[in-house]
Amino acid sequence: MYELIKNQWYAAVSSKDLKPEQMLSLEIMGDPVLFFRKSTGEVSAIRDICPHRGIPFKHGRLVHDMVECPYHGWKFDGGGVCREIPSLTETQKEKLDCTKIKVKSYQVQERYGCIWAFIGDADFDQTKCPQPPVLGDMPLNAKPNMIQVETFDCHIDHAVIGLMDPAHGAYVHKSRLWRNEKSTYEKHKAFGPVDYGFQMKRHQPSANSKAYKIFGGQPTTEITFRIPGNRVEHIQIGSRYFFTATGLMPINEKKTQIIQLSYWNMPWLSLLKPFIAAFADNFLWQDIDAVTKQQEGLKYDPNLMLINDADTQAKWYYSLKKEWFESSEQKREFNNPVKDVTLSWKS
Ligand code: FES
Ligand SMILES: [Fe+2]
Repeated sequence: MYELIKNQWYAAVSSKDLKPEQMLSLEIMGDPVLFFRKSTGEVSAIRDICPHRGIPFKHGRLVHDMVECPYHGWKFDGGGVCREIPSLTETQKEKLDCTKIKVKSYQVQERYGCIWAFIGDADFDQTKCPQPPVLGDMPLNAKPNMIQVETFDCHIDHAVIGLMDPAHGAYVHKSRLWRNEKSTYEKHKAFGPVDYGFQMKRHQPSANSKAYKIFGGQPTTEITFRIPGNRVEHIQIGSRYFFTATGLMPINEKKTQIIQLSYWNMPWLSLLKPFIAAFADNFLWQDIDAVTKQQEGLKYDPNLMLINDADTQAKWYYSLKKEWFESSEQKREFNNPVKDVTLSWKS
């Protein structure tokens, strides 16, 4: 079950890390991908290996919104089509149509300050997979108030499960602002299916979740998870909102990138941003530290356990993934295995 999921949109690059006329190379599912932004602002992505002699384009440069290979100067456009081979004489140009030479290109879309890449088959029916999340009525060009990009040294499955695990808070995230093992309560939360995922339905956060107190008023929260590894928390306090969108992307089987973007419409909260960012970074680092230590044990390939109900979301993740593979293989509709249920645990 350690297979990675293809034919999916992955959160790949934070928009602010790719300025106009810049390139950025990233490994996604074990393959190098070069993202570049044209002078017009449009983003493209192509496989970061020159089809001529295999050198990565990242060592080259952008010329007139095209990628120029550092070795012999062949130029490729955003669609991966070769537009120029400088060594060709005029007569050779008539015989060799360079536009027949192509490098794989990737579909990309940019929304809410994040660049998403579709990793999969070129002819895949785009209506048959989960789409990047929609964040309420926020305009697609909204910019995040806070961005975190980090790498987990583990397989995406363990990163996903760590992300949705309700029972580790008191142990991994020990903090005066959060909670400790002495202040755990019994929790009962209603869950239900959403397309390609599941949702913890809107509710008031528990009394021991002190971090929510920062918002004042009566916050309610709703958490949605969809394969391949996207989670959105939407906190609502009257007309005020706080979104956290988290996207996990497999760099390869041993490394996973996490992009976490937060958005809010509370100007006073922006004054506290250094404090919130430090808290969020610390929180994420505690998770990274836990999965890094976990690797020491996983090296020995132990049998693992998933218990009810604290690990039920992890079980759902695995069954959603299994259903994705089975429905793709059998070329049939995806049937969400998640049912409406209330889960209980102490945390
Ligand atoms: S290797 Fe890229 S142009 Fe020759
Ligand atoms: Fe955590």
